[in-house]
Amino acid sequence: MILTIVKYPEPILEQPSEPVTEFNAELRKLVADMFETTYASQGIGLAAPQVGVSKRITVVDLSMGKDPKQKLVLINPEITFSEGKQYEEEGCLSFPDIREKVVRAAKIRIRAQDESGKWFEMDGEELLARAFQHEIDHLDGIVFIYRMSALKRSLNLRKIRKMQNDGKW
Ligand code: NI
Repeated sequence: MILTIVKYPEPILEQPSEPVTEFNAELRKLVADMFETTYASQGIGLAAPQVGVSKRITVVDLSMGKDPKQKLVLINPEITFSEGKQYEEEGCLSFPDIREKVVRAAKIRIRAQDESGKWFEMDGEELLARAFQHEIDHLDGIVFIYRMSALKRSLNLRKIRKMQNDGKW
């Protein structure tokens, strides 16, 4: 089922999410729906607060549904190591048509639980590291405009207000 993606400035996007404690059929259904919603929007990742669920769940798939091996489910994820810097353009499904360069760590290691509650570790670099950091930020209530410079943030907020006024947001 394709879920509705909430757009900035919905308050849920700026609230820290609750840890997942039950690994049940309801969770697996939500994860499946989150993948379907990501693919329908041609995204590479989605966090539960973006579909109105304030829980620490994210899905990432850099192949956008083309390679099942790249489907990643991160539940209660934590960054355990980060190194270096990258500065690349980023977008967010809760900010349609906004793309901006954002500074992120170049390499990170995460620790997360899978759909059955099993903990695993994973390393990511380049785009994968960027996706992990962007999605984990969502779980902490941080949207990517707050990773931009103050100037870029105000320019983009102005652009959003204009789109809202024009009924395009
Ligand atoms: Ni996002």
